[in-house]
Amino acid sequence: MDIMQAIDTRISCRAYDGRTIEAEKLDQLEACIAECNAAGNVRMVLMRPENGGADLKLAKAMFAGQPSTYIAYIARTDEESRDRLGYYGEKVILFATQLGLGTCWVAGTYDRASAHVSLEPGEELHAVIPVGYPAPKTPLKQRTVRAALRRRDKKPTDVYAGYNVASAAVRAAIDAVIKGPSAVNGQPWVFIDTPGGIAATLPSVKSGIELLDLGIAKLHFELGATSAGVGGTWSWGIGGTFTRS
Ligand SMILES: Cc1cc2nc3c(=O)[nH]c(=O)nc-3n(C[C@H](O)[C@H](O)[C@H](O)COP(=O)(O)O)c2cc1C
Repeated sequence: MDIMQAIDTRISCRAYDGRTIEAEKLDQLEACIAECNAAGNVRMVLMRPENGGADLKLAKAMFAGQPSTYIAYIARTDEESRDRLGYYGEKVILFATQLGLGTCWVAGTYDRASAHVSLEPGEELHAVIPVGYPAPKTPLKQRTVRAALRRRDKKPTDVYAGYNVASAAVRAAIDAVIKGPSAVNGQPWVFIDTPGGIAATLPSVKSGIELLDLGIAKLHFELGATSAGVGGTWSWGIGGTFTRS
């Protein structure tokens, strides 16, 4: 599965079955996490079954089954750190998707006391990511959750006003952004033209979780553009711009 297929395949997995994840897969995931931690200056920690990975308590209304493993997404609380955690955290999620594993960004609907992670001063646990094999069938309750949330999807022209006259690469980028996850599918980001290139902005920031959404959207934009032949890199923070390489 290539990375664009991973974007198309990924959904928030809301039903996990009891199958053990092969140790080699967990090793591969851990290697990807280590690379992303180094590149992004964030601290994602794989909680394997032997390290209490199965202790995480997810809200029953949103999830079925008990995953054996999760990843703790830890970073500082400033704007850029959250943006980078979104970007690199989503890289890990797309890699897990390529391994055939189900995941979900979970920032709120879990029991914080069940996540046994120790934090350094200045750090925050921004999200946990259950990791496991998806159940063959997702119960109706959890399927309904996704359908209801995805009904709120924005139109491409709401995300980027110039979408209809944009290049194929920019359209592919925006399409990839819309397919990405965001908290309660709020899709809070907007892309605008600036003298420095296309910028990713947040018209309003309420809880701060939008900054994770922003980093996720930047990654999806970059992957979509790259798949259409236009590589580039983002600058961090609200209003960060995409510089073509
Ligand atoms: C930063 C972030 C936090 C999220 N927190 C939760 C959560 O606490 N509980 C939950 O059920 N889903 C959570 N989600 C998943 C979103 O609801 C989901 O990504 C969105 O509805 C789109 O659906 P999809 O990921 O299946 O495409 C979160 C997603 C993101 C990006």
